[in-house]
Amino acid sequence: MGKKVTVVGAGFYGSTTAQRLAEYNIFDTVVLTDIVEGKPEGLALDLNQSRSIEGFETKVVGQTTGPNGEGYEAISGSDIVVITAGLPRKPGMSRMDLIEVNAKIVRSVAENVAKHAPEAVIIVVSNPLDEMTALAQIASQFPKNRVLGQAGMLDTARFTHFVAEELKVPVASVKTLTLGSHGDTMVPVPSHCTVDGKPLSELLPADKIEELVVRTRNGGAEVVALLKTGSAYYAPSAAAARMAKAVAEDSGAVMPVCAWVDGEYGIEGVYLGVEAEIGAAGVRKVVETKLTDAEVADLKAASEAVRAKQADVASL
Ligand code: NAI
Ligand code: 2OP
Repeated sequence: MGKKVTVVGAGFYGSTTAQRLAEYNIFDTVVLTDIVEGKPEGLALDLNQSRSIEGFETKVVGQTTGPNGEGYEAISGSDIVVITAGLPRKPGMSRMDLIEVNAKIVRSVAENVAKHAPEAVIIVVSNPLDEMTALAQIASQFPKNRVLGQAGMLDTARFTHFVAEELKVPVASVKTLTLGSHGDTMVPVPSHCTVDGKPLSELLPADKIEELVVRTRNGGAEVVALLKTGSAYYAPSAAAARMAKAVAEDSGAVMPVCAWVDGEYGIEGVYLGVEAEIGAAGVRKVVETKLTDAEVADLKAASEAVRAKQADVASL
């Protein structure tokens, strides 16, 4: 049987993710849901009508869901569920300003996923990301490896873009890494950044690297400020779709994701941005990479910051 993936939330992030997943042409079905009557059905119809042009056979199914879980039967048998439901930021807002309203949404979505797609891997993207990932695990009661969040792929891609622009080199020659939280305690890791295999520190002065690190940390806010309404979705959807592809193909790809960390880097029991091997079961294992003492200290500081918030979220 072919694979089935569901995207909950048919806003900018959800609809572009559904499009990317459908265009991969590796799934039988992409289900797109939303609470706005007719929106997912309309987008699904539109996407299906692009099939002969783009050359994919995947069927896109749109489904409006109701306040008491009506319509969730459509997601049954999903191998993967990407949760994009929730409000995005407005200019001047931090991701944390969304916590109360998005917690209610993510909790109810995760409960419905547990009921209708009990074997699925959940990929969370709703913000604040690290907290919503923890909440989706609590609400679904899925094993921790089967619930992960998207942030590191996006933050890393932003860092890579900024380095490539600065050095005027192809993005394919640049490797960067970003760990920690999808927020103020994001940890871009310059010691792992290379261009054609050469350490970034040999190509750019320290103050320029720091400037790119700061721009990466504020990467989401920079787009929000330009858009004025809503937040980024092209790079974010590319990141979530790649994670879903790695799960669907059981590829073992190593990616920076928000995963349950328990012991790695000396950090106990918290959802945090780390590199992990991704397969059919979600996170196969967290991959510990060699960091400088300062980077480990930053990662530990990030873990403490998100730990406190993740504890609060259980009661929201
Ligand atoms: P959007 O406002 O375009 O779409 C959100 C959609 O969720 C709306 O269509 C809304 O009707 C729907 N929704 C609300 N409650 C729902 C429910 N209970 N069930 C199903 N659907 C529901 O926002 P956008 O741009 O799609 O962003 C979605 C989320 O993703 C936001 O929380 C945003 O902050 C987050 N985000 C996360 C990123 C990351 O890297 N993790 C990057 C970019 C955005
Ligand atoms: C982003 O990083 C707002 O989390 C969203 O674009």
